[in-house]
Amino acid sequence: MGKLAMNGGTPSRDVKKNPWPAWPVWDRNDEKALLEVLHSGVWSYNGPKEKEFDRMFAEFTGVKYAVSAANGTVTLQLALEALGIGYGDEVIVPGLTWQATAASVIDVNAVPVLVDVLEDTWCIDPAEVEKAITPRTKAIIPVHLYGSFADMDAILKIAQKHNLYVIEDSAHKHGGEWNGKKAGSIGDIGSFSFQLSKHLTAGEGGVMTTNSKELADKLDALRNCGRRPEKEEEDVDKGAGHYSDEGNFIQSGNYRITEFQAALLIEGLKRMPEQNRIRDDNARYLNALLDEMPGILSMHRDPRETKEAYFNFSFRYDREGFKGLPVDKFREALAAELGVDVEASYEPLNQCSLYVPLTKPSRYRINEEHWRAIDPSRFSLPVCERIFNEQSVCTHHKILLGDKKDMDMIAEAIRKIYDNVEELM
Ligand SMILES: Cc1ncc(COP(=O)(O)O)c(C=O)c1O
Repeated sequence: MGKLAMNGGTPSRDVKKNPWPAWPVWDRNDEKALLEVLHSGVWSYNGPKEKEFDRMFAEFTGVKYAVSAANGTVTLQLALEALGIGYGDEVIVPGLTWQATAASVIDVNAVPVLVDVLEDTWCIDPAEVEKAITPRTKAIIPVHLYGSFADMDAILKIAQKHNLYVIEDSAHKHGGEWNGKKAGSIGDIGSFSFQLSKHLTAGEGGVMTTNSKELADKLDALRNCGRRPEKEEEDVDKGAGHYSDEGNFIQSGNYRITEFQAALLIEGLKRMPEQNRIRDDNARYLNALLDEMPGILSMHRDPRETKEAYFNFSFRYDREGFKGLPVDKFREALAAELGVDVEASYEPLNQCSLYVPLTKPSRYRINEEHWRAIDPSRFSLPVCERIFNEQSVCTHHKILLGDKKDMDMIAEAIRKIYDNVEELM
C-alpha cells in the first residue's frame, strides 16, 4: 500500500465526511417558484417568468435585450441566423471549445474555420484569427473558455477592420467582466448556456443578449417558430394587433424555454453574483499557491479581466517539472486525492469525437467544395492538441465554492502527489 489515495493510501479529502459543496444549488425559493408555475397552468410560451428573467438577465449583463431559448447550442445557431449568416459564409471559431460552437455554424450551412488558441489562456489567438480571414469571412465566435477571457479588445479591432460580426460564446462566462463590461455585452450578440454543469443553470436553457432592437426582434421571432415579437400590452389595447408584423413571419422552429426553467433561472440569478465572487476569490488564492509549485502553472489572468466567472477551474501541467509523470496519471492521482472528477480540456475540434459533420452527408453534402470545407481534419491546431494531450487539468467549479482551507487542501494534495511521484512511475 502506498501513501497516495490511488494506491490505497488515505485520500487528502474524505468526501463522505467532508463533501464538496453541492451543485446545483437550490432552496425553498426555487421550490416555491416551481410550484407557482405548476399551479398557474402557464408552463410555457412567453409567460411571466420568462419575461421577468429576460428583463433581469439583460439588466444584469448591461444590455438592452435578452431573449431566452431552449439551450446554449440553439442560441448560437439563432445568433448566426439573425445576422444573416449561411451558405457561402465562413465563421472563425477557436479549435478548443465544446463542439456546439462549431456545430451551430455547420447547422446554418456556413463553414466553421477552426483556429488555434493561446497557450496561457486557452482562448482564441487573435493573430491566428487575422491569418484565417478571407473574403468569405462573416463572423468570429470567441469563446470565453473555463476561467479565462478571450482578448476582446484584439477581437473587436480585427472585426472592425474587416467588417465582421462578433458572437461571444459566453456559455462559461455569466457575470464575467472584461474592462468593466460583462461577457455577452461586448460583441454583436452574446450566447449563454444554462445546462446543468453551468454556473447558472435550469438543467437546460440558454439566452441571447444584444443592444440592437433589430437583432433582438429577429432573435425573438427565430426562437418562436418565426412569429414576430408580441407587442406590449398597451399597444395591443390600442388595437395594434398581437404581432408587430402580421403576415411578415419568417421561417424557423420552436426553440422556446419553459416557465419552469425561467423560474429556476430567476432564483439562480439572485444567487450567482455572490457565488461568482466566492469562486473568483478562491481561484485567485489557489492560483497563487499553484504558482509556487513545481510543474504547475496557473492560467494567465489578464488585468483587463475585472471580474472572472468559472465554468470550471483549470490549470496547466508541465510533465518535465513534475518529475516526468504523464498528465493522465497526474489527473487520476488528483481525482483520487480530492474525490472529484479531474479531466482534460475539450478535445481539439479537428479530432473531436463529437464534432463529426462528415457523418451526415444527407444534410451537409451540399456540394463537393462545401463538403471538403467542413472537414474538421483539414485544420492544424498544434496548441490545442498540446493543451489537450499534455497540459490540461480541469475540475468542476463547485470546488471553488468552499473556503480557503479547501484551497489549501487542493494545493497540499498536489504537493503530496509530487512528493510521492515514484509510486506512480
Ligand atoms: C462553450 C460552449 N458553447 C456552447 C455550449 C452549448 O450549450 P448547451 O449545452 O446549453 O447546448 C456549451 C455547453 O457546454 C459550451 O461549453
